[in-house]
Amino acid sequence: MKECFATITGEVIKGRQIGRTIGFPTANIAVEGDQQQMLANGVYGVTVFLEDSSHRGILNKGIRPTFRDPSMECYEVHLFDFSQDIYGKKLTVHVHFFVRAEMKFPSVKYLIRQIKQDILAVREQMESAVGQLSNVETGSLCDAGAIHFTDLQFVKYCEVQYGVNRGVYNTIDSWFYDKGIHHVLERRTKILQFFRYASSLAVKNGEKLSFGNGGLVLGLNKFWGQAEGNGLKWEEVDRLPNSLHF
Ligand SMILES: Cc1cc2nc3c(=O)[nH]c(=O)nc-3n(C[C@H](O)[C@H](O)[C@H](O)COP(=O)(O)O)c2cc1C
Repeated sequence: MKECFATITGEVIKGRQIGRTIGFPTANIAVEGDQQQMLANGVYGVTVFLEDSSHRGILNKGIRPTFRDPSMECYEVHLFDFSQDIYGKKLTVHVHFFVRAEMKFPSVKYLIRQIKQDILAVREQMESAVGQLSNVETGSLCDAGAIHFTDLQFVKYCEVQYGVNRGVYNTIDSWFYDKGIHHVLERRTKILQFFRYASSLAVKNGEKLSFGNGGLVLGLNKFWGQAEGNGLKWEEVDRLPNSLHF
């Protein structure tokens, strides 16, 4: 999978090694620099780059609240079909999509059952993404998780994924609010549909996504007009013909 909305790099350090006793060995990553803020606590589908190989896997970021001594925030990845010792090696992790929030389970038995389901879900999503999804749709998988981020994380996500700065983001957010979209999740969903739509057009025209010279409000009006005018359900907006010019 090519598309990712966050990248994490760091060295593999020793964890408590409970992972291997419950059947899911994980590599704990000492992340470099200021990458912490990028992700909400939870489980994600990832690709892990290790020296010259890459592997699919699953990431948990959080404090592991099921255990009696929840740790400091940590990042750990479980690599699929992989059993080498990689302590001390440097990993780069591409985060593709959100699976679920981290939870406190009543016992380790429930945690294990959930992790098995998470792994199946990630494998299935990755399999289907490889052959069937277009860039726009794969982007929408990442977006589906991002709408649950905190305000700060969501704005950061828009910047990383779509290159939209906070000023532009605020204008777009207010614009949708004024259109009567007062529920935050609904508004974020529409904002991301607008970004995906605008960026698929930009890609088609060989350009970078940019909104200059009053083009932003014009673009929003056209986007809104097309969806409303065509009587589309908003979930169908990604399939609009690419005829929007800002
Ligand atoms: C895919 C995945 C999902 C996880 N989800 C949770 C969770 O929801 N709650 C939790 O307390 N721990 C969760 N964990 C963390 C496990 O508790 C952790 O892997 C275990 O404590 C082993 O850590 P250690 O190898 O550093 O000792 C998850 C781990 C993985 C790999």
